Amino acid sequence: MDLIVQPQRAPLRGIVPVPADKSITHRAILFAALADGTSRVVAESAGEDNRSTLAAIRALGVEAEVGASEMTISGRGLEGLREPAAPLDCGNSGTTMRLFAGVLAAQRFRSVLVGDESLSKRPMARVATPLRLRGARIEGRLDPKRPGDLTAPLEIGPLPAPHVLSEISYDLPIPTAQVKSALLLSGLWAAGATSVSEPLVSRDHTERMLSSLGVPIERVGSVVALDPAAFSGRLPAFEIKVPGDPSAAAFLVAAALLVPGSEVGVRSVGLNPTRTGFFDLVRLMGGQLAAQAHGDEVGEPFGEIAARHGGLVAVSAGGETVVRAIDEIPVLCALAARARGTTIIADARELRVKESDRIAAMATVLRAFGVACEEQPDGMVIEGNPDGPLRAATVDAASDHRIAMSAALLGLVADGESRVTGADSIATSFPRFAGTLRALGADVRAVSSG
Ligand code: S3P
Repeated sequence: MDLIVQPQRAPLRGIVPVPADKSITHRAILFAALADGTSRVVAESAGEDNRSTLAAIRALGVEAEVGASEMTISGRGLEGLREPAAPLDCGNSGTTMRLFAGVLAAQRFRSVLVGDESLSKRPMARVATPLRLRGARIEGRLDPKRPGDLTAPLEIGPLPAPHVLSEISYDLPIPTAQVKSALLLSGLWAAGATSVSEPLVSRDHTERMLSSLGVPIERVGSVVALDPAAFSGRLPAFEIKVPGDPSAAAFLVAAALLVPGSEVGVRSVGLNPTRTGFFDLVRLMGGQLAAQAHGDEVGEPFGEIAARHGGLVAVSAGGETVVRAIDEIPVLCALAARARGTTIIADARELRVKESDRIAAMATVLRAFGVACEEQPDGMVIEGNPDGPLRAATVDAASDHRIAMSAALLGLVADGESRVTGADSIATSFPRFAGTLRALGADVRAVSSG
């Protein structure tokens, strides 16, 4: 599928929903599978990544009824997962693969995790190494590109004698919620405590949700610890209405900031501070953005946000803000293209190992639209051009949903029709992206490739 984007002549206006938060939905499905009893997970227009997690719990013997926007999951308890008959296909979803690695490492059966072409290239030693340190058996393929690293397929278990994971105190070399979560989850079955420290705090959905389900999790600074001695050994069934995804909302906020005269609101967006770095950066760029918290859902704050077009200035982004905005850096690049001055993005080396090499992919997209930029090993320098339209372009999405959506936004402020080729991956996180932009007044159409 390709996206055809026309230059936007009229303001974008409206209040729209976004899909349920992808990270929280993954965890809700997995924790419901491990809980005792029937849980209800309401997740509006969840994408394909979340379907991979759902398929994985089913393959492990968990029954789930799936409606248009809600799932009823019959948890089998912490000791109830069954050996899967076939490899578990994680599709494009790194979160599925790494979180399940933590859970499966503690099981007495063997399982294999596979993924699509992109996921099969992503680094997995970061999760295998600490799990092995606590006694797990995990084998992967030697990474042909990164010596010493591993890639999927991952073959996990059965857990070798003494059949229980040991305690661990592990310093993550990089902030990563997926590996932190895998370690904490494996800790549910361990004989001793799990303590994970990160150089900067990554998204903390696992900690919040497990805590609200009664798991004894403590945080001191950037160290999180789970002590099984104080744990009942059971997760209660629960209900959650997953808040909207701030990472999807970022694209709508950006659309409003890019197109003159626009005013866009997004209903029910997750406002967990470990996820709001992009909104903070937008404010630093002079973008008009209001957020109002409404409440919280299983420990996750949510509220409404509204953005209005106005001139943007360049920003220097690095450190903890980049960790809290890691998935939004591609769309930040799109905003930087229209901000007055030179934007510098640093400390974002992790972008090189996401669904694509997002630094290289965004540099290619920006240049195609006539924006001057320079790649850095850990980020990018972008010369903003707020005056006059960008050059219309045909760009490839690099099989990456966030590159596809960022490129489409640049098309809104170009001087003619633009095309984003290979945009199917948008369905992994924001299946109704084009329709939502159309609801705001944009002319964005999906056509078959070719
Ligand atoms: C995620 C964590 C982040 C993020 C990804 C989702 C999660 O990855 O980029 O999209 O749900 O835990 P890392 O943990 O690899 O930084």
